[in-house]
Amino acid sequence: MAVFVITGASRSMGLQFVRELMRRTRGRIVACVLRPGSTPDLDGYLHSLSDDERARIMVHRLDVTDVEQIEELAMEVERTYGRVDGLFNVAGVLGDRINTPGPEMNLNQMDAKWARDQMMVNAVGPMMMISKFAKLLRARKGKDGYLRSTGCRESVVVNISARVASMDDNNSGGLAWYTYRMSKAALNAGVRACSHELKRQGTWTICLYPGMTDTAMSRPFQNKALRDKGLVFPVDFAVGRLMDVVDGMEEEHSGGFYDWAGQSIPF
Ligand SMILES: NC(=O)c1ccc[n+]([C@@H]2O[C@H](COP(=O)([O-])OP(=O)(O)OC[C@H]3O[C@@H](n4cnc5c(N)ncnc54)[C@H](OP(=O)(O)O)[C@@H]3O)[C@@H](O)[C@H]2O)c1
Repeated sequence: MAVFVITGASRSMGLQFVRELMRRTRGRIVACVLRPGSTPDLDGYLHSLSDDERARIMVHRLDVTDVEQIEELAMEVERTYGRVDGLFNVAGVLGDRINTPGPEMNLNQMDAKWARDQMMVNAVGPMMMISKFAKLLRARKGKDGYLRSTGCRESVVVNISARVASMDDNNSGGLAWYTYRMSKAALNAGVRACSHELKRQGTWTICLYPGMTDTAMSRPFQNKALRDKGLVFPVDFAVGRLMDVVDGMEEEHSGGFYDWAGQSIPF
């Protein structure tokens, strides 16, 4: 019985990963939410399930910036399942420039507290998740084909990053978005660095870019021209394509940074 842990599962892409894994596997899913009791989208989905399907999902409180909560969750998952086959670091913050100082449009808008907070959610949190769950990812002893059609036996860590983190790709000077770029670049660096250690224990890890996807995060930055050109993806499309990339993952992809179509993105 495969076990998957997903952060940011209350809504948007995190919730869609719950749906996809329910559909593609027969595994158990640990759906982690920042604010238990305040997750209407997830609640609506849970209510739509049969009793047997509902029994496959455990909802757990998790603020990814709180290491004690991560440790508590890892202990609970160890007690209940003893292993993890897939860890999905989906939770993230960008800000909307109304309620948050970011994303910055110029250097004047840099705010140290916001930079720290964003770094904690987008980079330090996912890395702490990997650190505390590494033992359970190693414990996986399942048979082939639990998720991937390639028939691989490795466990996987999937990290949702962003193309704007790419330094090579940052030639236009379009959006500043300094702290978001910094935090996702830090995530990419951490994931590449730990991919070697994880590979030795039979765990592959990857950073993925979903494309601009129609969620609360991107809504303030969408416009008609982008939508008319089909450059704002529906959530089910984006997450479906990301799952296809995970499904086709081979050892050579571990430590890499790919978009929704499986195209490599330069760091
Ligand atoms: N949407 C895009 O176009 C796009 C593009 C590139 C990359 N991404 C990345 O894709 C991922 C998902 O984005 P999204 O568009 O689905 O975002 P979203 O609609 O803003 O949802 C963000 C999710 O993260 C959770 N979260 C925020 N802070 C948290 C914390 N400290 N601990 C635990 N959970 C926390 C939120 O919980 P609450 O519901 O409780 O607030 C929510 O579930 C993010 O990592 C984002 O950076 C998105």
